[in-house]
Amino acid sequence: MTLQDFLTEADTIEREGTAALTVAADANALEAARIVFLGDRQGRVKALQESLRAIAKEDKPAAGKRFNDVRTRLDALHTERKNAAGRAVASTTEDLSLPARRRWQGAKHPVTLVIEEIDAIFRELGFTIAQGPDAETEWYNFGALNFPPNHPALDAHDTLYLEGEGLLRTHTSPLQVRTLQKYEPPIRVLIPGNAYRRDFFAASHAPVCMQIEGLCVDEGVSIVDLKSTLNVFASRFFGAARTRFRPSFFPFTEPSAEMDVQCGICAGAGCAACKGTGWIEILGSGMVHPRVLDAAGIDSERYTGWAFGMGPARMAISRYKIPDIRILYDSDVRFLEQIAGSALNGTER
Ligand code: DAH
Repeated sequence: MTLQDFLTEADTIEREGTAALTVAADANALEAARIVFLGDRQGRVKALQESLRAIAKEDKPAAGKRFNDVRTRLDALHTERKNAAGRAVASTTEDLSLPARRRWQGAKHPVTLVIEEIDAIFRELGFTIAQGPDAETEWYNFGALNFPPNHPALDAHDTLYLEGEGLLRTHTSPLQVRTLQKYEPPIRVLIPGNAYRRDFFAASHAPVCMQIEGLCVDEGVSIVDLKSTLNVFASRFFGAARTRFRPSFFPFTEPSAEMDVQCGICAGAGCAACKGTGWIEILGSGMVHPRVLDAAGIDSERYTGWAFGMGPARMAISRYKIPDIRILYDSDVRFLEQIAGSALNGTER
């Protein structure tokens, strides 16, 4: 056999072997191709090796090198295809009837859900959202809001004082002043944020809680706007529940009122959640005191306004019929996921 014939045969085996191993669609076809080309007894590579003997001595090194080349390539290709077929077999032997492992997925906290719902209702009524610092100055937290120094109303607002002048704001009302300083009336803003008090952690109280402040200032705004806007809000949030306004006192509003909503749990009959009164207090409100407008540099002869502050955690417990506000802050997933699930209305989670 001439070297030329040998090399031509080597090329053919390499080409056809590569094609056969590559197109083999499954383990059986691959094994059949292996026997044809790499089989120990009658494989074509084996036959090529035997034909080496018939090569002239001086051509042997070149022929031997080419032979090794072809065998190594086809061996490597066979190993690679075999591994790939093994993986494919492994994946088709998975038990597809096994129940899926449930994926852990985060969800929004009940208070966040309530805040978003309140935001959406007030947005429709023309309010924008504003935010401000948790660490406030005494002037914004008290002075500008017409708290006289040493007034008894300060007792309810005991908080953590920071070094220097600052304190952790006891309510979101300082944002009324900051907003009035920044924007010209007409103003309609909603301000969600944390408030800090030196309160005990009790069934209806937390020392840190979210508040939502609302403020509307324009020419000719009256208490009719306050009542009608808050009633529209309550009917949207609580459905057909009745509301009532009770006179109250806040230094930064005059007159002031607290708004109650008929208890959704007992429909006004009286139960533990409403302490037997049939009503749940949801917010404080009032007509913005002229001194607050003046302190913020707004002409109180020309403009009037109304404001409110509500506790979304309290609204969350009444919405979701939660007996104790502390559950909201326990981070117990078994509880939180019940509400996350019901908020998704049974859609997949
Ligand atoms: N800032 C008050 C508090 O935390 C709540 C409040 C009452 C806010 C009346 C208001 C308001 O804007 O008009 O107790």
